[in-house]
Amino acid sequence: MIYAASSLDSYLAPADGSVSWLEAFGTDEAADLGYDAFLAGIGSLVIGRTTYEQVLGFGEWPYHGKPTTVLTTRESLGDDPPPPGVRTDHGDDLAQLVRALQDEAEGATWLVGGGTVHRAFLAAGLVDEIWTHVMPVLLGSGVAMFPPAFPRQSLTLLESRTYHGGGPGIVLLRYRVD
Ligand SMILES: NC(=O)c1ccc[n+]([C@@H]2O[C@H](COP(=O)([O-])OP(=O)(O)OC[C@H]3O[C@@H](n4cnc5c(N)ncnc54)[C@H](OP(=O)(O)O)[C@@H]3O)[C@@H](O)[C@H]2O)c1
Repeated sequence: MIYAASSLDSYLAPADGSVSWLEAFGTDEAADLGYDAFLAGIGSLVIGRTTYEQVLGFGEWPYHGKPTTVLTTRESLGDDPPPPGVRTDHGDDLAQLVRALQDEAEGATWLVGGGTVHRAFLAAGLVDEIWTHVMPVLLGSGVAMFPPAFPRQSLTLLESRTYHGGGPGIVLLRYRVD
């Protein structure tokens, strides 16, 4: 499943890739946005090399105990050993990758992103749900949440939640990919 925060115009980040644009929406009520409950249902993760390096740069690896595959065409992720449970994959057989992760760990596989990972799994028909927190901003340009191209896919809205929390408002949209 895809779970990500996006601008109303469907960007994951501004063009420089930074995450600071999200800080404006950290109101008290919206602080958690259901993330802890979501993460509790996640057994394994797939993450693009760019996002992986960004998360590593934040400090301690936040997904201990959940097997994580970093997609990369590179032979290695650098000189330092990755955190426990983190391995790489060249993305040659994404269906087999998901099967292996689901055999290894109970729970859903979170496609952490970024956009190129979303596109690869949508192109392979391997996305079952899309959760997006829509932030009240038009970034105007940046890292697309759904960069083209992949086949058209019909969605069914499973849930929507609105968070006000004294701020400008955030909407969670949760879709099933039919
Ligand atoms: N708002 C949110 O919730 C959210 C969530 C996630 C990410 N983000 C943002 O998204 C941005 C990064 O997204 P991005 O699309 O530029 O990069 P990305 O998807 O994180 O990583 C791209 C890299 O992953 C590897 N890769 C992706 N698909 C592959 C495949 N099918 N097979 C093999 N390797 C594959 C390649 O690595 P190599 O170059 O090593 O071959 C590629 O260059 C960051 O700014 C991050 O902050 C935001």
